[in-house]
Amino acid sequence: MRPVLLVHGGAGRVPEDGGGGAREGLAAAAGAAWRLLEEGGPAMEAVIAAVQALEEDPRFNAGYGSVLTEDGDVEMDAAVMDGNTMRAGAVAAVRLVRHPVLLARAVLEEGRHVLLVGEGAERMAAARGLPRCPPGDLITPARRAQWERGRADRGGGTVGAVALDRAGRLAAATSTGGTAGKRAGRVGDSPLIGCGTYADARGAASATGDGEAIIRVVLAARAVDALDPETDLAATAAAALAGMQALTGGTGGLILLDAAGRAGAAHTTPFMAVARRGGGA
Ligand code: GLY
Repeated sequence: MRPVLLVHGGAGRVPEDGGGGAREGLAAAAGAAWRLLEEGGPAMEAVIAAVQALEEDPRFNAGYGSVLTEDGDVEMDAAVMDGNTMRAGAVAAVRLVRHPVLLARAVLEEGRHVLLVGEGAERMAAARGLPRCPPGDLITPARRAQWERGRADRGGGTVGAVALDRAGRLAAATSTGGTAGKRAGRVGDSPLIGCGTYADARGAASATGDGEAIIRVVLAARAVDALDPETDLAATAAAALAGMQALTGGTGGLILLDAAGRAGAAHTTPFMAVARRGGGA
């Protein structure tokens, strides 16, 4: 198979810089992941590499740079899913963890559960020796200022990736700080398998946008279910998002990839940055 990679940096408002910063961050993240795929590495490692790089980039709402809860804390969600084995791992409302996507992978690898939350997930991070940090280390000056201004948003800046590797394996990963000003304990769509993150042998999807709406329509699995050899994937993603908007009023974005290496993206928000490497329409 020829590998394919799609990475998104979240659906939302048009950034003040017009999106140049987001595109630059995505290009760097996609570059590292793409090298892995070109060298024959697994799709799962590629999506994790892309998302981990974006968790480190303060321009995105994931890891360092996450938005703050109404209490002024960071609580993050992340998930990974392997399409060919249907194995998945996810964490929600985690603090103290530099890279939630690595913790989600640890949950997948252990295989005992699919979703761990809060303190239990943080204990697993410690047991696995994953990079931990005091909560304040994840807060950027820009996010602190946003919180002080009391500015809420719907979670723009969530990050995600989908990949197909040379062996034909599909994977998806998503990571987010959630919505600005959210209640402590709020869990969005990203760590909920089938909602913000999904992969099976047919396709892989990562969603972004209005998490409560995405959860209600189970957007990522719905989009993979709708894959059709006669329809290009941008149209399939757009139809899934239009259906969500009609049913719930919610908006968002989606990246979608199928087992044949076709890829597509769509958004119903004013802006979503996407980087793509390889693949046909
Ligand atoms: N879509 C990200 C969130 O709502 O948490």
